[in-house]
Amino acid sequence: MKSYAETVGAVQTADTAVVRGPTSVVVRLHVNGTPRTILVEPRVSLLDALRDRLGLTGAKKGCNQGACGACTVWVDKRRVLACLTLAIACETREITTIEGLSDGVELHPMQQAFIDHDAFQCGYCTPGQIMSAVALLAEGHGADDDQIREWMSGNLCRCAAYPNIRAAIRTVRDAATNQIPATAAEGGSTRPEPARARPAGVGPTETGPPPAGSGRPGPAEGPAAEGGPGAAA
Ligand code: FES
Ligand code: FES
Repeated sequence: MKSYAETVGAVQTADTAVVRGPTSVVVRLHVNGTPRTILVEPRVSLLDALRDRLGLTGAKKGCNQGACGACTVWVDKRRVLACLTLAIACETREITTIEGLSDGVELHPMQQAFIDHDAFQCGYCTPGQIMSAVALLAEGHGADDDQIREWMSGNLCRCAAYPNIRAAIRTVRDAATNQIPATAAEGGSTRPEPARARPAGVGPTETGPPPAGSGRPGPAEGPAAEGGPGAAA
């Protein structure tokens, strides 16, 4: 019977350190509340694992080098750049993508607000924008437009929908502050803000827990293709 190390492709070295790889190894992830198991090389990024192995194409590959924010997801409730994060480093962590943001029935208020405020054109940056926007409010960084601009600065939008994105964020912020449905505030969703886990406050572009590959200069405002406020391909 194979040992665990053999099963996951690990190599036991003389000093007992366990090295996994460089060939494909079993990686167990917890994505949007569901355990997932994939076979990937340790060098595979979380973004490629999500998109190519798990079929979760909401997070987008814009620059693939930590500059645009299109790949923003949450790891342990903190926003991270999935293109700079190794999938294998997320094994014991909770990963949340745009596909897991809503309850599967109604859109998250931020998704609805993006629609209501026409906060996108091509939609390529939108999933990342929304994941950052929800995190930004949870972090308490949405007091005014300057703060929103700063803490969203890591998410670029080639379509320059920034004013509308900020309007969407303000709507959700104000609806939550006044405890009123976003629709009543500025035409957003009638669904009350769910009690979501709040991504811990990290820097604008900081994006990441230990495994996270942040390293980008600021949070987010970027590039392009399909996808709307929901998932996207
Ligand atoms: S694709 Fe990750 S920051 Fe651009
Ligand atoms: S809507 Fe942002 S890049 Fe097109």
